[in-house]
This record gives sequence, structure tokens and C-alpha cells, in this order.
Amino acid sequence: VSVLIVTGTGTGVGKTVVTAALASCAVGRVAVVKPAQTGVADGEPGDLAEVTRLAGVRDGYELARYPDPLAPERAAARSGRPPLRLDDVAARVRSLDAGHDLVLVEGAGGLLVRYAPDGWTIADLAVELGVPAVVVVAAGLGTLNHTALTLEAMQRRQIRLAGLVIGSWPSDPGLAECCNVADLEAIAGVPLAGALPENLAGTSDFAERARAALAPAFGGTFTGVAAGAAQTYRR
Ligand SMILES: Nc1ncnc2c1ncn2[C@@H]1O[C@H](COP(=O)(O)OP(=O)(O)OP(=O)(O)O)[C@@H](O)[C@H]1O
Ligand SMILES: [Mg+2]
Repeated sequence: VSVLIVTGTGTGVGKTVVTAALASCAVGRVAVVKPAQTGVADGEPGDLAEVTRLAGVRDGYELARYPDPLAPERAAARSGRPPLRLDDVAARVRSLDAGHDLVLVEGAGGLLVRYAPDGWTIADLAVELGVPAVVVVAAGLGTLNHTALTLEAMQRRQIRLAGLVIGSWPSDPGLAECCNVADLEAIAGVPLAGALPENLAGTSDFAERARAALAPAFGGTFTGVAAGAAQTYRR
């Protein structure tokens, strides 16, 4: 697979940090695409700047920026700038795919967030490109429903799950977090493909810690969350 959509159960779940982790574990030339960046003023650093800071990837492509902190369709309308078109975005990603070993495409918010008045979503982009999606999820209470809804919407569209990744795994996980690991795996029908430690973003050894937090399918060595934590609440 050379294109991966990075989506999630909602905004703020850790898609950008996971995108950076995937980029830093990948072998070869990596490009990162953020089709629409919202909530950031012109000239200010957006998600791509964060990926550069964390993973050192300089090959980033932001295709549109709409400053209001809203979903792209509404933010575009309020900005007076044209909305993105699905076929244009797909063409850009395809042409990047031709020159790279991996292209990561970070959506805005969750799977069914609209980009334009015709209602296209990152799910439609995955379908159009025929590529799988990584789903970034929260660790705590509420994540099971959000994850189930997201996976059901993907199944309906026949979008393959490349992996379920917990965006921020607490250093001191509680009952819900520990139980959710097994329950997320049951919902997905596959083992977790990663869990990033909650303090990953600022650390100097980002690449090394990212590798430990992502599964071998993504170039990492992750085989599960710390057994000790999950064992505490087993039953
Ligand atoms: N594992 C982590 N380690 C450190 N910080 C994290 C981690 N996961 C998330 N964060 C922080 O939580 C916030 C939200 O994460 P992030 O920006 O990756 O979410 P997102 O899903 O990309 O959000 P958006 O929908 O805005 O693109 C950021 O400030 C980020 O640095
Ligand atoms: Mg982001």
C-alpha cells in the first residue's frame, strides 16, 4: 500500500501525531497531504508544520486553508475561498503516489466531515483512490461507540481498515482505558495497530518511541499496550 488515509473518530484524537509517527517509521520517500486545514490563520503553522516538527518530513502538501475553526465545507464558505473538489484532491494524491513510497493523507475531524457543498468526505476520497484508512481513536470512555460508528461507516463503503491506533495512551491508564483495549479489538476484529504514549509529541526521541508504539505493518515493533496495565483490570 502506498497511500494511507489517516482518519479518526473525531477532531483532536491524535491524527496529526499518528501521521507523524507513521511518517517517521516509514522507509523511503514519504509525502504528507492535509487536503484542508481549518482553524489556522494564513501564515500560521498548521498540522503539516507539526508533522515536520515531529517527524522531520518536509514533503507536505496543504491543498486549502480556511481560517475558521470549523469543518471544511462551512469554513470554506465563510472564507470566500473555493471549496476543494474531490477529483482534484484525488488527482493530487495520485500524482504524489507516483513519486513517493508512501503518501499519508490526514483528514479533517472524523470520517464523515464534509469538504464541500456536494458533500464529499475523506471516506469518498478513500473510495475514489481505493486505499485503506488508519483510524485513530481515543483511549477512554466513549471511544467504543465512536469507533464502532466509524468502522461501520467504513464497512458500508468497503473501505479497508489499515489499523486502529490509539492516539494518546495515558501513562497511568484507568479502568475504562484498560478494558477498552480488548473491546476495541473486538469491535475491529483485529489487534490494535498501535497506541502512542500520551507524552509523545514533545520528545526528542520521537522516532524511536513512535516505532515502539506502532505495529510491524507500519514499520514499528508494537505488539500491544503494556501488559501490566491491562492485567490490572483483567476480567
Ligand atoms: N500521543 C500524544 N502525545 C502528545 N500529545 C498528543 C498525543 N496525542 C495527541 N496529542 C495532542 O493532542 C492534541 C490533538 O492531537 P492532534 O492534533 O494530533 O489531533 P487531530 O486528530 O490531528 O486533530 P485535528 O482534527 O485538529 O486535525 C494536540 O495538541 C496534540 O499534540
Ligand atoms: Mg490534525
